[in-house]
Amino acid sequence: MNATTTYTARAHTNIALIKYWGKKDEKLILPMNSSLSLTLDRFYTETSVMFDEQLKDDLFLLDGSKEKNDKISNFLEIVRQKANITAKAKIISKNHVPSTAGLASSASAYAALALAASKAAGLNLDKKELSRLARRGSGSACRSIYGGLVEWQEGIDDQTSFAHPIEMSRDFDIAMIALVISTDFKKISSRAGMKRVVETSPYYPAWVQNTAKDLRKLKQAISKNDFETFGEVSEENAMKMHALNMSAHPHFNYLEPDSIKAMKIVEKLRSQGVSCYYTLDAGPNVKVICRRKDIQAIVDRLSDSFGQEKVLVAGPGPAAHLI
Ligand code: DP6
Repeated sequence: MNATTTYTARAHTNIALIKYWGKKDEKLILPMNSSLSLTLDRFYTETSVMFDEQLKDDLFLLDGSKEKNDKISNFLEIVRQKANITAKAKIISKNHVPSTAGLASSASAYAALALAASKAAGLNLDKKELSRLARRGSGSACRSIYGGLVEWQEGIDDQTSFAHPIEMSRDFDIAMIALVISTDFKKISSRAGMKRVVETSPYYPAWVQNTAKDLRKLKQAISKNDFETFGEVSEENAMKMHALNMSAHPHFNYLEPDSIKAMKIVEKLRSQGVSCYYTLDAGPNVKVICRRKDIQAIVDRLSDSFGQEKVLVAGPGPAAHLI
């Protein structure tokens, strides 16, 4: 095999409403529980891949600068094995997330890489196989293969752990407002944080049981187009995840004082009749789930406290695709 054609893929980030927080198999990235997310239109990664036998090593350029990244080479090894090739690859990746947002994510990165690299290696994977492949790079990436609302069914092995889209009624009205609290790198990566929680939190078994219930409730709310229950269950699930972190040994916490301030603002707006709910991942940024008609009121209120440039509005985004 000489140099192959370059393939470029675009994949969007997703925000989990029922969180994935813990693995039952670290190598295969099999989660302890199923999760459910919304793929977002505003934030995405574009990645080009070309395999070339002349290359001595994989070459990875992220946003214009050369990076050394063993995780990416390990991931490409999986692709090479599947395609039965040995050539190294040139990977050019660009994150389309406002540079100050602190919202760049491994989900869009590995979903785009899975699609571009598998194509460039001559594989023609269907969506289920792509989702399984993306999962091997980063768990949450398996959900970014699809657009809209997506469930990652935990499965019991490599074959059975993948994502699939959730039917959303045409009038299911949802938007997300991201409030950027900090652009600092994570104190503890998701990977390290969830591992510590699984190993040390006395509440971990309760999380697994409860999250399965939350997922059922959320799916029921989606099918009934019941936005209030949808928001309530999402918010509660996120808080359970953050409570787990505080119960780990040594305990840790992603929230910053401004995260709490923003959460209080959302609660206040809610008490005034605006239907809005928050969720947070492995960082201090607060994401507010709302209906489209309420976007402006929420943006105005958050901008008053944090500045307009910190408030970013997103809607449901598309599946990963080649460009
Ligand atoms: C809090 O998918 O980044 O965003 O599989 O170890 O790469 P690895 O973890 P990652 O974890 C995401 C955690 C989360 C919740 C979620 O997206 O479900």
